[in-house]
Amino acid sequence: MGFLSKLFGKKDKPPRPSAPVAHTWHVTSVTRETPSSISFEVDATMDFKPGQFVLLRPNTELPWRAYSFSRAPGRPLRLTVKRVPDGVVSTYLTTQLKVGDALEVKGPYGQFVLPAVVQRALFIAGGSGITPFLSILQQFEAANWPVPVTLLDFNRAQPEQILRAELDALVASSGGKLELVHVLDDAGGPCSAAVLEKLLEGRPAPDLVGMCGPQPMMDLARDFTQQRYGGVTILEEKFSMSHDEGGSGASYSVEFVQGGKSQRFEVKDGEHVLAAARKQGVNLSAGCEMGACGVCRVRLLDGKIHVPDDACLSDGEKEDGYALVCVGTAKSNCRIEPAP
Ligand SMILES: Cc1cc2nc3c(=O)[nH]c(=O)nc-3n(C[C@H](O)[C@H](O)[C@H](O)COP(=O)(O)OP(=O)(O)OC[C@H]3O[C@@H](n4cnc5c(N)ncnc54)[C@H](O)[C@@H]3O)c2cc1C
Ligand code: FES
Repeated sequence: MGFLSKLFGKKDKPPRPSAPVAHTWHVTSVTRETPSSISFEVDATMDFKPGQFVLLRPNTELPWRAYSFSRAPGRPLRLTVKRVPDGVVSTYLTTQLKVGDALEVKGPYGQFVLPAVVQRALFIAGGSGITPFLSILQQFEAANWPVPVTLLDFNRAQPEQILRAELDALVASSGGKLELVHVLDDAGGPCSAAVLEKLLEGRPAPDLVGMCGPQPMMDLARDFTQQRYGGVTILEEKFSMSHDEGGSGASYSVEFVQGGKSQRFEVKDGEHVLAAARKQGVNLSAGCEMGACGVCRVRLLDGKIHVPDDACLSDGEKEDGYALVCVGTAKSNCRIEPAP
């Protein structure tokens, strides 16, 4: 087992929790980080790996959402939330959360966990996508910086830079091992292939690229790093994604079987199965809704559902007939049941 595996866990995907247990956490502090973001601490402990997240909901009226730990394990648990325009849960958390509030929490989840052996890392963060990197970098600091890291931290504007002072303190403690480049939309950014090319010019090639942020930035950064550093290991965590609401062309029938009953709904080609089920009043379990937690896993009794490679479903699970409905698209008529 390599040195980093002791810190971060093995390269294999973490074992899937068969039945996620819900915990109740109480908020012990709320700190405003920027005009649109807060951090909060809770009275609980949880065993997690740097880079992982939990699903939480502030009350049963609100949907579950995923939030990454913004601190390394072994310290008071902290999550950091940025409000997205018209966002149901992030608006609630950033405007109404207060000390003493109870939160329903499930987890930890996630495969945004460093592999056992890394020689040099490049991290690319967009907005609130900085949170899992803080957890990872604090773990590096605790281990006396075993790996050189370049972190590109993209933000719209200076007042919206999350936990900037904490990041700068990490740079100061790293003895040159952590190089941090803040990029603002109006000063060097926004993120594009040309901007990445310029920022990375003359810097040594990494063997690991970790990226976290909204989907458009991730798509761009993945294409760029794959081209520039062919064969590099890429770790991704999407904080937002474009759900294809419409779909087009062929339409398939999906039968959802549960407890001796069955319900049918139609899914268009390209449409996510979960979105189609919801529109037609069929209630399928879901958590992060971005292919990251596995809560929406179903077993295929018949038919085919395509799940993208970057979702948290292993090849073995695909071969055993499992699918994720939040990011999965039907490729034939299907029969599905909740995964055991
Ligand atoms: C694994 C994982 C970890 C995450 N960790 C964090 C974290 O540490 N901190 C954090 O602030 N967020 C994090 N997120 C994002 C978070 O889960 C929610 O998606 C986000 O807070 C928006 O939820 P909402 O209910 O407020 O918005 P919704 O009501 O779901 O969405 C409202 C609108 O905003 C768009 N939207 C949704 N999310 C985003 C986004 N991130 N950026 C831009 N537009 C968006 C939607 O498409 C929709 O149009 C994480 C997401 C994942 C999948
Ligand atoms: S809801 Fe999280 S993977 Fe589908």
